[in-house]
Amino acid sequence: MIDLSSPLTNQNKFLIFGGGFSGNYFAKAIRKLGCVALTSSRSKSNESNSFIFNSENDSIPGDSIFEGVTHILSCIPPDKNGNDPVLKRLQNKINNLSLTWVGYLSTTGVYGNTYGNWVSEQDQPNPFQERSQRRLNCEKEWINSNLPIQIFRLPGIYGPGRSTLEAIKTGKIKVIEKENQVFSRIHVADIANAIIYLLQNKNNLDFHPIINIADDEPCSQIKVISYGYQLLGLRMPKKILFEEAKKDLSPIAQSFWKENRRVSNKLLCEKLGYKLIYKNYQLGLNNCLINIIK
Ligand SMILES: NC(=O)c1ccc[n+]([C@@H]2O[C@H](COP(=O)([O-])OP(=O)(O)OC[C@H]3O[C@@H](n4cnc5c(N)ncnc54)[C@H](OP(=O)(O)O)[C@@H]3O)[C@@H](O)[C@H]2O)c1
Repeated sequence: MIDLSSPLTNQNKFLIFGGGFSGNYFAKAIRKLGCVALTSSRSKSNESNSFIFNSENDSIPGDSIFEGVTHILSCIPPDKNGNDPVLKRLQNKINNLSLTWVGYLSTTGVYGNTYGNWVSEQDQPNPFQERSQRRLNCEKEWINSNLPIQIFRLPGIYGPGRSTLEAIKTGKIKVIEKENQVFSRIHVADIANAIIYLLQNKNNLDFHPIINIADDEPCSQIKVISYGYQLLGLRMPKKILFEEAKKDLSPIAQSFWKENRRVSNKLLCEKLGYKLIYKNYQLGLNNCLINIIK
């Protein structure tokens, strides 16, 4: 049952650490509900709702930023040692606040390679890449923080301004095919909307400390790219087989092809009843096209 008298009110103040692609999108969505939302960036921004935080130097927010904070969302990746930047610099301060909820954006990379099989929150993390080991360590730090933490594991994030369409337009795309290789993905609007749905309905839903947010249709990269070319009315260049293409890929690009998994959203979408806005890449890219043509 959906709680129509939402627990979110204009008395709520959100601090969003990492006002990048997802953090900023979430901030805009939550402000529409009347909440206050401040986002961090590492350098000075003209945005009035922004503050400076850089874990690598002394740019720590002043006390006034923390006044009246009820919710925190952290969207900052692990530091090079695998420590969480927010906890490392601000945990003492945060532990003294009266917080209702703390969210952390993590990655489905913590599950490692499942050779194309489905993976859910019930599966033990088995990170394969070093960056995913660092991520799992940050998850553990948040879980051990004594804060009311909820972790969201995300696959590839895309949305207006950051999608296959932009990659095609700027010539950054490589049309690579690898047999039986799939990726999961999520539209940025569904990250924000799913989190807001869980917050609005928290009085009626079981609490789960770890939740995957992924769309319904993991699929090959080539399907997405070919749909992107179709939407833009452009002819797709000839495919390159992965074995041939890999010598020209950066180590980070190569590492993405080393893992093959289908991320299940059953907990979020079946058990908890969230309805995806963009349940597959076609719907998601149709939305991104609006940004390209406007
Ligand atoms: N992109 C993906 O496909 C993907 C997939 C799964 C999970 N994730 C994870 O989900 C989270 C959100 O992803 P996103 O793509 O929306 O992130 P994003 O656009 O890259 O934004 C990251 C934010 O973190 C801030 N940041 C980075 N290092 C920092 C430090 N040392 N101290 C303070 N702030 C720091 C950045 O500050 P500035 O604004 O100053 O740059 C930026 O605001 C990240 O943790 C990301 O690793 C991403």
